[in-house]
Amino acid sequence: MAVERLVSPVATPTDLPEQERNWSLRPRRLHEYVGQSDLVERLKITIQAVRARNEPMEHVLLHGPPGLGKTTLAHVIAEEMGESCKVHITSGPALSRPTDLVRVLCSMNASDVLFIDEIHRVPVAVEEFIYPAMEDFVIDIKVEQGMHAQTIQKTLQPFTLIGATTRAGMVSSPMRSRFGITHSLRYYSADELLIILRRSAGLLSVEATQPGLQAIAARSRGTPRIANRLLRRARDFAQVRGDGILTPRMVEDALALEGIDALGLDDLDRAYLKTIATTYNGGPVGLEAIAATLNHDSGTLEDVVEPYLLQIGFVARTRRGRALTQAGAIHIGMPTRAAGAELFE
Ligand SMILES: Nc1ncnc2c1ncn2[C@@H]1O[C@H](COP(=O)(O)OP(=O)(O)OP(=O)(O)O)[C@@H](O)[C@H]1O
Ligand SMILES: [Mg+2]
Repeated sequence: MAVERLVSPVATPTDLPEQERNWSLRPRRLHEYVGQSDLVERLKITIQAVRARNEPMEHVLLHGPPGLGKTTLAHVIAEEMGESCKVHITSGPALSRPTDLVRVLCSMNASDVLFIDEIHRVPVAVEEFIYPAMEDFVIDIKVEQGMHAQTIQKTLQPFTLIGATTRAGMVSSPMRSRFGITHSLRYYSADELLIILRRSAGLLSVEATQPGLQAIAARSRGTPRIANRLLRRARDFAQVRGDGILTPRMVEDALALEGIDALGLDDLDRAYLKTIATTYNGGPVGLEAIAATLNHDSGTLEDVVEPYLLQIGFVARTRRGRALTQAGAIHIGMPTRAAGAELFE
């Protein structure tokens, strides 16, 4: 089931125009890339070193929830590798057979980047086909079928594979071990989001006060994609209902209209928390049961609702299922001694 939420970290097909505008907000160079400072430092050093040796960048595996900047970072790396470096984009679900990759692999120039999104969804046969390409820049191509089956080996230009995934645990270990740099992207702090918002407000010519932008940062669930989306929504509101200037009041009113509270939680988040609190006595309860009660797809809940609630400590995953924490119970105004609470005291 598709969920249309203003605070969804996922880019949906319906926000394609938004995606395009987002594009203009994307940082292009490493020094513009806010946050993730340890990763940025490692990348700076590696890029400088490989460029001096005239080698391609090491393969990079990025994992983390949607909207934290994995795709952006792949483009930034390519940009830093030099003008001639191009990014070729594909994704796990698009690669059903090894032959789906042959054309792109053969068309790449030295040091180009191959970006594979949702790399955990690459089928095993394709994975095995990629390994020699990653290690030795060669691929085996079948030229005939049946009795006379023959494979020829083709040498590729040295390239960089950047893989992105929201499900680190689902990337096979042989695949993972072939990346030189593996990094898990973190949620952004309010200060980091503020820097991103200031830059975006400048690019979009939005007039905003510092507290106004702070109010958006506080509701952005640690996610730049959401921050930029809320900024645009608040801008529209301020233009129609106010004098166009983003103040905390404008931000609060604009987002309250969408059911978004001071922490950036929306109706679905609160319904999820309330289900655990009331129907399941605070938990622990299995995800499938919560999904059934909410009449929602469990995968969606796992991908776009739970990560942030776990991050801010409103729910906990225990061996026996999900449990509401005290902080979570307080936020939805439920008795603080929910059944699951004793698990965390
Ligand atoms: N470090 C950053 N600094 C500034 N802006 C950022 C940063 N990371 C992401 N953004 C902004 O957030 C938007 C979403 O980032 P991006 O598309 O790279 O996320 P993603 O991790 O690839 O998400 P998905 O998993 O959905 O593919 C970008 O368009 C960009 O404007
Ligand atoms: Mg992406």
